Amino acid sequence: MTVNITSDTNIRSFLTNVGLITSNGPFGHNIMACEWTHQISYDPALIALAIRNHKATFQNIIQSKEFGVSIASVDQIILSSVAGNRSGKDVDKIKMLEELGFHFSPAKHIDALMVEGACMNAECQLVQTIDIGDHPLLIGEIISLREIDAEPVVYNQGKYWSKGERLSKPGEAVLTRIRKLHEKYKK
Ligand SMILES: Cc1cc2nc3c(=O)[nH]c(=O)nc-3n(C[C@H](O)[C@H](O)[C@H](O)COP(=O)(O)O)c2cc1C
Repeated sequence: MTVNITSDTNIRSFLTNVGLITSNGPFGHNIMACEWTHQISYDPALIALAIRNHKATFQNIIQSKEFGVSIASVDQIILSSVAGNRSGKDVDKIKMLEELGFHFSPAKHIDALMVEGACMNAECQLVQTIDIGDHPLLIGEIISLREIDAEPVVYNQGKYWSKGERLSKPGEAVLTRIRKLHEKYKK
């Protein structure tokens, strides 16, 4: 049995970051929004992106073998929307965004721009491409990392959200019960 999911009937439960993926290649300096941006290993430090292969970003990365990942902050939803709704094949999104007041700076170890004011800037070297499903995986090793104290925007059901409040831990009575159950069902 198979399940068919489209962007219109997407799973509602996943909450993600928005990765702002920067690259340089046949389409020049470019940026796209990528909700499927995930850390998948500590050592080596790896980030996986799932990006359709016809996108300018995908083609830039395949050619240059490197990319930048900036995690969008709550102040960058306009940036995300511009980067995620038009292609670097048709328009210079970097210039558009600069004119809208966003700033980029050159990465230190790769030939790409990094987004200023993002929560995280990671410079990555492409280590593996996995051609699976309709969004091939691009796996990059982080060669330089910087985090700033900004709040990451949350993406869910095609909308932007803020993180909200931290939930409180269960009380001592519940924790004691869990400890007892652990003892009872120990293998
Ligand atoms: C918030 C957001 C998240 C997105 N996430 C992805 C994603 O994970 N993978 C993908 O292939 N496209 C994703 N997109 C769509 C691309 O950003 C969009 O197709 C973009 O125009 C590609 O740009 P490019 O052709 O310049 O690379 C997303 C769009 C938005 C607005």
